[in-house]
Amino acid sequence: MEKIKVGVFGAGRGTTAINQLLRRGDAEVVAICDKYEPGLEKCREIALKAGAEGISFYTDFDEFEKHDMDAVVLANYANEHAPYAIRLLNGGKHIMSECLTCATMSQAVELIEAVEQSGKIYAYAENYSYTPVRQEMRERYRRGEIGELMYAEGEYVHDCSSIWPQITYGEREHWRNSMYSTFYCTHSIGPILYMTGLRPVKVVGLEGRNRPFMRDLGSAMPCFGLEMITLENGAILKSLHGGFKHNRPHANYEIAGDRGSLRDMAEDGKLAVYREGENENCRGTHSVIQPPHPIADAEASGHGGGDYYTTHYFIEAIKGNPEADDKVIDVYTAVDMCIPGLLAYRSIVQGGVTVDIPNLRNVGERDAYRNDTFCPFKEIAGDMYVLGNTQEQIDIPDSVYDEVRRRWLCGEPG
Ligand SMILES: NC(=O)c1ccc[n+]([C@@H]2O[C@H](COP(=O)([O-])OP(=O)(O)OC[C@H]3O[C@@H](n4cnc5c(N)ncnc54)[C@H](O)[C@@H]3O)[C@@H](O)[C@H]2O)c1
Repeated sequence: MEKIKVGVFGAGRGTTAINQLLRRGDAEVVAICDKYEPGLEKCREIALKAGAEGISFYTDFDEFEKHDMDAVVLANYANEHAPYAIRLLNGGKHIMSECLTCATMSQAVELIEAVEQSGKIYAYAENYSYTPVRQEMRERYRRGEIGELMYAEGEYVHDCSSIWPQITYGEREHWRNSMYSTFYCTHSIGPILYMTGLRPVKVVGLEGRNRPFMRDLGSAMPCFGLEMITLENGAILKSLHGGFKHNRPHANYEIAGDRGSLRDMAEDGKLAVYREGENENCRGTHSVIQPPHPIADAEASGHGGGDYYTTHYFIEAIKGNPEADDKVIDVYTAVDMCIPGLLAYRSIVQGGVTVDIPNLRNVGERDAYRNDTFCPFKEIAGDMYVLGNTQEQIDIPDSVYDEVRRRWLCGEPG
């Protein structure tokens, strides 16, 4: 069988998928694109070390797009995935997209329709969903072990200030500097939707405050966001994400049903289980287990093995492996993992009202959002542009970005 030819767009986080693909016998990296040449150079070294030959390197996306490829991994800017995904799907490529899926509701509709029209695989690389504990939580929830979901918490609190120069390069307009509080909601919402299969239907948003430790590194945005989400069965999901000083692991998840609960004990790879049998109200059984990796090869991969499964199931889905159909995060679920954050910001701007989350699987629900470009990213918002911080407008002088850039170039921390 011929190897699946994969291109990678974005040479930073893109190296994660490159490393996974270089180890596979059924797929090969054929092209890599990044406008930042030292990034391409790093990829060239990785490929050489792995003995991979014949990869083409591009700085220009238009040239990269012409390369003979079956599939593309999108690891470009987080607020620019949808337009590139749509272009590539229209050109007949399968897509694996890094987080997030889309930056506006209008992009969500267009992306879904591009996937439907192309008939190609769209796999969302929501890697936090795939640690062994979270896969185990999914299996147990799906077989009814804790009954019906009543409440869930998803938390992704990652203070990146120490590496801010290395991930924003002193660019004022970098998406990490311009993202608003509720934008990067995928890692707190995604795993809960993946476990439960429930769809979000309503959201209320809240934003934290900007603080000097981030302002001094170039971000004028609130440091964190919170979404209170109602799921389709009436359960409530609390999703918290952003960066502040936090004295516990950065990703935490719990799902509580009417017959028990499951809690990810984060760093130690263990799962706390509470189960009640018939007539056992409040007298159920507590246990702690350590689920093994469903696939042993995943063990050494980043994000608790999550980085293995995203690429693995993408390639398996392209090959038509039916197991991958269940495991891959398709475009509808991918959109569900992100649009609550977009709509939570609308809630914040409107003073905390509850905002409905459409089910974009239904063609009839799409038209209302087709031209909805509401967002704080100037270049795509058009006349629906809003400021990304509803509490204060912070003007950061150029000298801050010059200093962050200097630290990036010298390899100094934030
Ligand atoms: N899932 C995770 O755990 C995880 C971790 C880190 C990053 N990410 C995601 O990966 C993506 C990339 O993040 P990153 O950390 O590498 O930082 P980044 O967003 O700064 O990097 C994007 C890279 O794409 C390149 N690029 C962007 N637009 C381009 C264009 N038009 N032409 C050529 N090159 C272009 C940039 O030069 C840069 O090297 C983001 O979407 C981010 O959310 C996910």
